[in-house]
Amino acid sequence: MKMCVITAMLFLVLPGQCGILAGKVNKHKPWIETSYHGVIIENMDTVMLDPPLVALDKDAPVPYAGEICAFKIHGLEAPFEAEVLNRTSGEGVLRARGPIDCEQQKEYTFIIQAYDCGATPSGANWKKSHKAVVHIQVDDVNEFSPVFREPLYHATVTEGKIYDSILQVEAWDQDCSPQYSQICNYEIVTQDTPFAIDRNGNIRNTERLSYDKQQHYKIMVTAYDCGQKRAMESVSVHIDVKPVCKPGWQGWNKRVDYEPGTGSKQLFSKMHLETCDGPLSSVRAMVELQTSHIGKGCDRETYSEKSLQKLCGAASGSTDLLPAPSASTNWTASLLTDNGRDSDLIFRFDGRQAANIPEWVVPQNLTDQFTIATWMKHGPSPGLRAEKETLLCNSDKTEMNRHHYSLYVHNCRLVFLLRRDFIQLDSFRPAEFHWRLEQVRSPRGTLLAKGNGEPR
Ligand SMILES: *[C@@H]1O[C@H](CO)[C@@H](O)[C@H](O)[C@H]1NC(C)=O
Ligand SMILES: *[C@@H]1O[C@H](CO)[C@@H](O)[C@H](O)[C@H]1NC(C)=O
Ligand SMILES: *[C@@H]1O[C@H](CO)[C@@H](O)[C@H](O)[C@H]1NC(C)=O
Repeated sequence: MKMCVITAMLFLVLPGQCGILAGKVNKHKPWIETSYHGVIIENMDTVMLDPPLVALDKDAPVPYAGEICAFKIHGLEAPFEAEVLNRTSGEGVLRARGPIDCEQQKEYTFIIQAYDCGATPSGANWKKSHKAVVHIQVDDVNEFSPVFREPLYHATVTEGKIYDSILQVEAWDQDCSPQYSQICNYEIVTQDTPFAIDRNGNIRNTERLSYDKQQHYKIMVTAYDCGQKRAMESVSVHIDVKPVCKPGWQGWNKRVDYEPGTGSKQLFSKMHLETCDGPLSSVRAMVELQTSHIGKGCDRETYSEKSLQKLCGAASGSTDLLPAPSASTNWTASLLTDNGRDSDLIFRFDGRQAANIPEWVVPQNLTDQFTIATWMKHGPSPGLRAEKETLLCNSDKTEMNRHHYSLYVHNCRLVFLLRRDFIQLDSFRPAEFHWRLEQVRSPRGTLLAKGNGEPR
């Protein structure tokens, strides 16, 4: 069998190709260009060479010597191989030996040489061309999508301001070429936000933000590379709105509601001084209290007695000692009055007349707790050494004329006298209470008095 093959080869070679037998000569070495420039798309295997890879041999058409048998690449690291496509024409092709990754290496440079087929079928006496330089550039494929450098972005803005840039987000892309690795555009994915983003990733607000309206925004942002590949995952951007700092006292209300008779109340328990981190040399505070609505205060000149008792929180069941005169209450009928109506009547006393209040009206025993409320304007005291000016007096019926209790003005004091156990004739045990009041020294006007005892 082996013998047969050899015979066949001899037969094939012998007839037309006498030159071999004649010369067995390989005069010329193959010729190729001095340099080639190639482009390969990453992950493909064919290299497009310019000029095309062709080796010529002057020995053509001499068999073997004029044919090209191989292209050899020098440089072990170059992941390329060259193959002869047509021995006669010398055409060859350059291919990648494995996947070419642009992200790892963008360019390759190596040496290539062409070999002819020698002088004999066995390839002996082959000749090689000069060394040509091959330069290959790897073309990028847009394999990678943009990725944000941070997993989350966060910024704080002050309300009411328009920012050129609140913060900048940044994405990057692993592709090797500028076109596919650069970020060409950013986009806010979240609908209807008061924010915009530019090509450089700068986020700005499109309207003034209000702390009262919204204190926190969460928006999603995506990025596109210059090959229009969009980021696989959008990034979250958190923006906090902080109130603009206004220096001054904070944490207090202008209005404080107080119900009469409910004891003490802290007015500014949560107040603090906001300095906005500014320098502080001294603090001076002045507190001024006003009854904001006059009807809520004890305004005795505007309101009727009944209203006042209600407004000022008097206990129910109080006794009006100077009611408007009527059939059942006639002890005030002879007094001088102003033109007020009903319970608004103001009585005038000049020290000579008085109202004799029937026994059944007056509580004889004030008990342990009582309130006497009076409203009066006090004129100048008569005489040099002022006498007692009695507003209210409860006394024995006859003879002893002892005061059980009485309220009077003496000089510049308001005095209340109380004898608790007036029934026991031999013990008085009086108690006197003196108030030195500005109102008692009232310089003008006549003495007007109106009082009520209010047993509780
Ligand atoms: C090889 O090239 C020669 C010369 O150009 C041509 O005549 C021949 O047809 C080619 N062979 C093939 C298989 O293309
Ligand atoms: C008040 O009325 C009583 C009886 O209702 C009568 O006795 C008295 O005189 C009257 N006093 C005056 C000042 O009108
Ligand atoms: C006053 O009233 C209280 C209770 O109603 C009683 O305990 C006390 O004895 C009375 N005092 C006089 C002097 O009547």
